[in-house]
Order: sequence, then C-alpha cells, then structure tokens
Amino acid sequence: MQRFRIREGLDVVVVEDDAGFASFAADQVCQLVQEKPDAVLGLATGSTPLGLYAELVKRYEAGLVDFSQVRTFNLDEYVGLDGDHPQSYRQYMRQHLFDKVNLRPENTHLPSGTATDLWAEAARYDALLKELGPIDLQILGIGENAHIAFNEPGTPFSSRTHVVDLTESTIEANSRFFASRDEVPRQAITMGIASILEARHVMLLAQGIKKAEAIRLSLEGQTTPEVPASALQTHPSVLVVVDKPAASQLTILR
Ligand code: F6R
Repeated sequence: MQRFRIREGLDVVVVEDDAGFASFAADQVCQLVQEKPDAVLGLATGSTPLGLYAELVKRYEAGLVDFSQVRTFNLDEYVGLDGDHPQSYRQYMRQHLFDKVNLRPENTHLPSGTATDLWAEAARYDALLKELGPIDLQILGIGENAHIAFNEPGTPFSSRTHVVDLTESTIEANSRFFASRDEVPRQAITMGIASILEARHVMLLAQGIKKAEAIRLSLEGQTTPEVPASALQTHPSVLVVVDKPAASQLTILR
C-alpha cells in the first residue's frame, strides 16, 4: 500500500489487490464506528463497494464492529423500482449489508423511487439529511464519466437531491445488472453534489483501468461541473482508495 498527498485534505492510497482494497476501506468505516457508535454513513451501490460490504459483514460476524446505533443514507435509487424490486438499490443494500449486520431497518435511509411526487420525495430526503446529518463518512464510487451518485456531467455543484435522466453511458454501464438494456430505468433520484460535499469526510473508491481517466481528471484536472467528481477538490477531507490500474494515469505517481 502506498499513500500520496495531492494536497492537504486530499490523499490517495494505492492498494495492491482486491483484498487489500476491501480491508483498507473497511478499516476506515470500522475506525469511525468505534470512535462514534452512532455515526452517520453515506453509502453507495454498484460493483466497487461490494468487497467493502463483504468485509464489514465478516468483521460484524467476528464481533469486531457494532452497527446498532449507526445511521445510513444511500446516495440514490432508480425511479420506478419499488424497494422490493431485485434491482432496486434498497434490495442491493439489504442483500449485501443491511440484512447481514445489526443495522436497524429504521436507521437505513434511501430515497424512494416510487413516490408519486418525486420532487417532494427529494425535498423530504434533504430535510432528513439536515435533521440527522451531517454524514460523518460518505463512501463514493465513480462513473467512467466521473459521475458521483447519479450526478452526471453538467450537474451544478450547488445541486441537492433531485430527479435525473440517466445518460446513455450510465444506462449502458448499469445494464449488466439487468436482464436486458431495456429494463434499466431511465431516471433516478439522487443526492446532489452540494449534499455530498457537506459530509465531514469522503472516501472515494475506484478500481480498474476503466476508471483511470476519471480519477486523473477528477483529482488533477480542472474543477468543473463537466467532471462531477472534480467537486471533491473543494472538500477539506477526501481519501481516495484506488488499485494500481485506476491510479495509473495520475501524474503524482509517475
Ligand atoms: C451508486 C452510484 C454510482 C456508482 C458508479 C460506479 O450508488 O451512485 O455513482 O458509484 O456508477 O459504479 P461501479 O462501482 O459499479 O463501477
């Protein structure tokens, strides 16, 4: 494992393999929960955090971490999918974490993708974040186009929870979780960039060569809404956990 400082408050940790990746990320979560048993965690879905969640389940089963007072907020949910739908993010979270540790169901929050008034649902989610937040540690993945949550390129940094039309590239990337591309919802409800930036600490996770360009642009490029994750350059406490392929375009490593 190698650690680099891009600047004060923006550190990059390059891990050797998948096991090291999951274990280092889980260390950050467990350390926080040990220090602050009622911590608020911001959670992501997708492929990248799967190893982290599996590691957290393992540590919970070994009695090393207690989630009984932890509160969680997920970044996003597909519009039109009920929380019981197998491809909904609520189901993903239940399958990989919520049902396998002692998180209380009432302490786990996701926006509802089936609310009749989705914008009212977005406002409800923001109000809840304000009431129970700030998030102590926000876990993020990153899209190949540098999206964070479902904030696609062009989303203002001032955005809060909102309804988005997914881009063709995101629909394509996410179709791997569905029987066919046609089944991928066309919209999602997502936390905005301003909501993400309010977290006390952010841990951005990225694996694989497909993320290398997004990681370079986000950490070393210009801060611009065209590269949503570049907003993290304005945050005071970001830890980026990457494998070697995802780190391969960073000039700081050359
Ligand atoms: C998921 C999310 C997305 C993913 C991103 C990367 O809640 O908000 O931004 O983090 O699309 O997805 P994976 O990890 O599948 O490459």
